[in-house]
Amino acid sequence: MLLGRTTLSKFLIEQLRGTEDQADLAALLVDVTAAVKTIASMTAKGALGGYLGSLDSENVQGETQKKLDVLSNDAVIQSCEWGGLVAGMASEELDEPYRLPRAFERGAYLLVFDPLDGSSNIDVNVSVGTIFSVLRFGRVGEPTTADFLRPGAEQVAAGYAIYGPSTMMVLTVGKGTHGFTLDREIGNFILTHPDLKIPEDTSEFAINASNERFWEPPVQRYVAECKAGRTGDRGRDFNMRWIASMVADVHRILMRGGVFMYPKDTKEPAKPGRLRLLYEANPIAFVIEQAGGVASTGRARILALQPEALHQRVPVMLGARNEIERLERYHRAYDSGTDKPFASPLFRDRSLYSAEGRA
Ligand code: AHG
Ligand code: MN
Ligand code: MN
Repeated sequence: MLLGRTTLSKFLIEQLRGTEDQADLAALLVDVTAAVKTIASMTAKGALGGYLGSLDSENVQGETQKKLDVLSNDAVIQSCEWGGLVAGMASEELDEPYRLPRAFERGAYLLVFDPLDGSSNIDVNVSVGTIFSVLRFGRVGEPTTADFLRPGAEQVAAGYAIYGPSTMMVLTVGKGTHGFTLDREIGNFILTHPDLKIPEDTSEFAINASNERFWEPPVQRYVAECKAGRTGDRGRDFNMRWIASMVADVHRILMRGGVFMYPKDTKEPAKPGRLRLLYEANPIAFVIEQAGGVASTGRARILALQPEALHQRVPVMLGARNEIERLERYHRAYDSGTDKPFASPLFRDRSLYSAEGRA
């Protein structure tokens, strides 16, 4: 049936009608979808379009850039800079915020994005994505880095595109989380997954288990209990998945439930996590919360964090409410020393502070 379908633009106009963001935010998100269609076309052509492989360049985080990282970054900038809707943009692939050319009118929003998430998967033809976050600028003039450092709770819209067997956009403007599928023949995103909800319980978790020895004890405890399954404290078996594209792992959780973790680890002690707050953790946390899930560092709500730097990293654990709350309990027990076998060394038996230690 081609008639009577709800396109993404119609859906956004209806959701935003009567709000202070009504015209411009919908128009900006439509510009983002134009970039997404370009990126979808490039990822689908793959080797035939000459799009695979790496460049000689590195981004500000010292990661080798793939050709598609840079092309996707250019696609988002070119789609969104001209329309008088944004005042500035910031991206994983740019050291500093992007300054709009003088010729273009300045708008009311700041756009922050990860143009291609999971780029280690490009050359092996596994799903990748684009993540975006929209903030209000709230003043006139040229945005500086400080203007982008706003808690995720202030986002007015956020979402991601996933380039999988089909291309989908999943987004929120603070009124639930909704999914749209690209109809390639017509070129429109069609509402196919309205009002997504993440079940409160799950038996599926996602984590890069090769980092296990670098995790903190509360995460080691949680994963050990999941792996012990029916024979352990949890009393039921768990399943594990890891795609190494956050977008794809998160999409699975929105479709069928689960928990995703990229916790703090000691592999690179200078980095307090792998994922970036402004263009990975915050937009995904907004989408997850609007679908009834929880997004946490293990110790704090992600959307409440005050960012300190554009490319700041944070620990991320998100998904099924009861599982994330359990992880937060394990962190509290560890931090307070009440979790005996897993507690901080300072509080363990025979340590300075324990009864046995003082005896
Ligand atoms: P990006 O490609 O934008 O740098 O992000 C990759 C991130 C995230 O998508 C994924 O969950 C994680 O890195 C994968 O990390 P590992 O390589 O440690 O599995
Ligand atoms: Mn990413
Ligand atoms: Mn990326």
